[in-house]
Amino acid sequence: MTTLQLDPTKPDELALAAQLLLDGRLVAVPTETVYGLAADARNPAAVQGIFAAKGRPSDHPLIVHLPSAAALTDWAEDIPDSAWQLAKAFWPGPLTLLLKKSPAVSPVVTGGLPTIGIRVPAHPVLHQLLTQHQLAVAAPSANRYKKLSPTSAAQVLHTLDGRIDAVLDGGDCSYGLESTIVDATSEPLTIVRAGPISAKQLAEVLGRSVQQPHEHNIKVAGNVKAHYQPNTPLLYASFADALPAQATLAQKLAILHLGPVPKTLQPIWQQQMPADAPSYGRKLYRALADADHAGAELILLESPPRDEAWLAVWDRVKRASYRG
Ligand code: TXA
Ligand code: MG
Repeated sequence: MTTLQLDPTKPDELALAAQLLLDGRLVAVPTETVYGLAADARNPAAVQGIFAAKGRPSDHPLIVHLPSAAALTDWAEDIPDSAWQLAKAFWPGPLTLLLKKSPAVSPVVTGGLPTIGIRVPAHPVLHQLLTQHQLAVAAPSANRYKKLSPTSAAQVLHTLDGRIDAVLDGGDCSYGLESTIVDATSEPLTIVRAGPISAKQLAEVLGRSVQQPHEHNIKVAGNVKAHYQPNTPLLYASFADALPAQATLAQKLAILHLGPVPKTLQPIWQQQMPADAPSYGRKLYRALADADHAGAELILLESPPRDEAWLAVWDRVKRASYRG
């Protein structure tokens, strides 16, 4: 299959993307977080194609992307007030709510779970596509299973070229990390994946705190220990401490650093990372992909700060570096 590259600024190409989706085909679409691999959420056969293209187990649930919160009642039921409050405050935007699924929703979308993940994305291209055609799309990140999430159309093609019908090129993603996922099916609300919207922001809207466990049992593909991985092994370390022997012994080292690179290290590739968490998050997947292409045998990442602002970044770094 040839993967079409579509330019959303051209109305006929945007219309073609919509038509492909309505025909049950797979189109990678830009969102403000990462690129998603979209299929018509009302078409279970189309949704099944996502699992095949990604190589993802079919019991891993997908997020449904809606044009507006008004469509929520078509997809979920027993929606608590807290979910409406969060939807009002953060949609369109990088927040996914887990809710009780409506019986009308195919179990293919939810991996057989009684709940459904829903968000209203803010990217203008996807927003236009969804509103113009009253579409709802199921979309995981547009990468092969366990690999780095793509933050540009070129990165989508890197792992999915020839496996999907088209990619709609909406430029670089503004957040670069996946949405915050909140389980709104029980009290207190629980963050099951850290993301651009923090526990503090959620609590401010709700007027009460939300839980943010470090480990949980809810089935979230991103909850597996090895995820979001570059092909090259990744290590993280504080440059203020003794450096890991693997890093000092590596012949070909790539480094993502925040401060100065220790003199004892002789990287073949290095990148200065931003000092603030949102900018760092925006660059992380791209930097890891670039490091991967540099031909290094090891990627060393200088540990970022440990405070709350960096939770979403740390979550990705830990999974990206996990070797079981
Ligand atoms: O920012 C994002 O959320 C991106 C963009 C494309 O919207 N999407 C994304 O999808 O990251 P994905 O499939 O790569 O990660 C979504 C996570 C998965 O780990 C999945 O298991 C979890 O959300 N999820 C979806 N529906 C769920 C449900 N009903 N219960 C528990 N977890 C769910
Ligand atoms: Mg993903």
